[in-house]
Amino acid sequence: MKLGTKFIHAGVEPDPSTGAIMTPIYQTSTYVQEAPAQHKGYEYARSQNPTRTALEAAFAAIENGKYGLAFSSGVAATDAVIKLLKPGDEVIAGSDMYGGTYRLFSKVFEKFGIKFHYINMQDANSIRQYVNGNTKLIWIETPTNPLMNITDIAAVSAIAREAKALLCVDNTFASPYLQNPLDLGADIVMHSVTKYLGGHSDVIQGCLMMNNQILREQLYFLQKSCGAVPGPQDCFLVLRGIKTLHVRMQRHCENGKTIAHYLRNHSKVSRVYWCGFEDHPNYEIAKKQMRDFGGMMSFTLKDDSVNTAKKVLSSTKLFALAESLGGVESLINHPASMTHASIPREERLKNGLTDSLIRLSVGIEDVDDLIEDLNQAIG
Ligand SMILES: Cc1ncc(COP(=O)(O)O)c(C=O)c1O
Repeated sequence: MKLGTKFIHAGVEPDPSTGAIMTPIYQTSTYVQEAPAQHKGYEYARSQNPTRTALEAAFAAIENGKYGLAFSSGVAATDAVIKLLKPGDEVIAGSDMYGGTYRLFSKVFEKFGIKFHYINMQDANSIRQYVNGNTKLIWIETPTNPLMNITDIAAVSAIAREAKALLCVDNTFASPYLQNPLDLGADIVMHSVTKYLGGHSDVIQGCLMMNNQILREQLYFLQKSCGAVPGPQDCFLVLRGIKTLHVRMQRHCENGKTIAHYLRNHSKVSRVYWCGFEDHPNYEIAKKQMRDFGGMMSFTLKDDSVNTAKKVLSSTKLFALAESLGGVESLINHPASMTHASIPREERLKNGLTDSLIRLSVGIEDVDDLIEDLNQAIG
């Protein structure tokens, strides 16, 4: 199936009880059994729910995986992956990634004896020096949030295989429309479904996709044992969101390209971080592993002061000043004080995340209106 057909039909069958074309919201906590342990495959809704079953089949299909699992947030999905590990295990993760992932690793799991190495992954080979017998997981985000750095997924997956470690890719920024890490050798794909998959800024949800059945059973065990499952109404909304993913992403990409070039040519803008520029340090890798370059970008101003950045952040009228990304509406964000505030300032600066960096999630509005808005805000 081609992408557009897959996104519309993934995982969804007419409802067996009525033929409803849209999977119903099974708003139930439990299921009546004919006799003890005699049931239709559904016992208790933390373990199984038919709306979630359809969504999990859709998740698997859109990432070309065999299995999908839904979680109550992206962070809960990440949490399940780390719970595969035990004290003494080591993780190699990117130094430039979503602040909440860093917070989960450093503030929650380090104290249980899991060791994390945060490194620059723009050159995949730099990972090798951190690999040892305890390395059990390599965690990558590409493109990264918020600096749009690119990591070569196929190259890292070869390193992970040699090290007998799992490779998990946070594919939130790209979405399955642009990039499919399982096809490039990753063991697990993770999404903050809250973003492009949901697409309408109305759901918090996460997911994991994989091909290996044993890994699926281990992660399903964690999903039901730890209990971070999404409700059926949220599952329904995401099933609906996925049906238009390709159409939305196409427009995100078109608008993103126009705005990235507009910013680059603006006399008051200093640097634009967007992986579709031919002089982006890993443009060739981005071109190889992505179908297009998306609508996420960050930029700094020539007047590199926090106050000037804050003035721009407070002046846009269409770009809403808010955390999150990937919805149909455009958002503007200040990573240093919002999405990445949980990363210590020295760490942020070391990775190039300055106090004046501005991040945009370019939506699917008319691009002329978006440019007019940025023009009046930047001045
Ligand atoms: C790249 C990335 N990964 C993971 C997350 C966490 O997802 P959630 O907010 O759905 O828990 C986010 C949230 O912003 C994100 O941007």
